[in-house]
Amino acid sequence: MSNLPPKEFMPKHIGIIMDGNGRWAKERGLPRSDGHVAGAKVFRTISDYCHEIGIEVVTFYAFSTENWKRPPAEVAALMKLFKEYLTEADEIKYDRQKGGYILRFLGDTSAIPKELQKLVSSTQLDATALDTTIVNIALNYGGRQEILHSVKQIAEKVERGELKASKITEDDIAAGLYTAGMPEPDLIIRPSGELRLSNFLTWQSAYSELWFSDVLWPDFTTDDLDKAIMDYAKRNRRFGGV
Ligand code: IPE
Ligand code: IPE
Ligand code: MG
Repeated sequence: MSNLPPKEFMPKHIGIIMDGNGRWAKERGLPRSDGHVAGAKVFRTISDYCHEIGIEVVTFYAFSTENWKRPPAEVAALMKLFKEYLTEADEIKYDRQKGGYILRFLGDTSAIPKELQKLVSSTQLDATALDTTIVNIALNYGGRQEILHSVKQIAEKVERGELKASKITEDDIAAGLYTAGMPEPDLIIRPSGELRLSNFLTWQSAYSELWFSDVLWPDFTTDDLDKAIMDYAKRNRRFGGV
C-alpha cells in the first residue's frame, strides 16, 4: 500500500480475470476444484484490499457464459463456492456502522441455480446509494451476451415507438449494460499467462489498459495488485488524441 500512486493516477475501476486455478491445482497434484477453493480465498483478500485502498469499482470475472462447457462436477463445485461465499456475505456486505463494500452481480443470473439466485438478489445492494467501493462479481457473464441484452432492450423501445432507430447513441447501449452508471475499467488484470480477454467487459474495455502476469490466480497477492497499479500509473492514455 505504501507504494501506491497519488489519487489522480489511481484507476477508478479495475477488472480482474481470475484465471489459473486449474493449473495451480494440477501443479500440486490436486483436483481442479481445490484450485477454485484457493482462488476464492484470494478473491476475498483482493476485494478487501481494493476496499482498503479506496478503489471505486472492482470487477472480478468469476464464471463466464462459456464456462458451462466444463465438466458438470467442476461447474457444481464452482456453484457451491459461490453459495458458500454468499451465505457468509452478511459480514462482508455494506453495513453503515462497520463500513464494508457493495456487492453487485454482472451477468445473466436467471440461468444459475435457483438457490443461488435467491442469495444473489438478497445480497445485491443498490450501487448508487452508498459512497463506498463496489465489488462486482461477473457470474454467468459474457461481454457479447451483455451487449445483446442491451440491444434487445433498445429494440423493444423502438418497437414501442419510444425511440427512433436513427437516434440510438453509444450512451443508450452503455445504459443497458450491467455496469450502467459505473466508470469504465481503467485497468484490466489477467494473471496465469493468457493474453486475452475471454469475453470480459467487451464494450467497456475499449480503452482499458491491460496488465498481464504469469502468476496463477491462487498465488496472486496484494503486492501483485500494487505492481499492476504502479505500472498503470505510468501509462500514457491518449484515447486517440496526441
Ligand atoms: C479460473 O481458473 C476460474 C474459472 C474460469 C471459473 P481456471 O479454472 O480457468 O484455471 P486454468 O485456466 O484451467 O488453469
Ligand atoms: C476466463 O477464464 C473466465 C473466468 C476467469 C471466469 P477461462 O479460463 O474460462 O478463459 P479461456 O477459456 O482460457 O479463454
Ligand atoms: Mg482458465
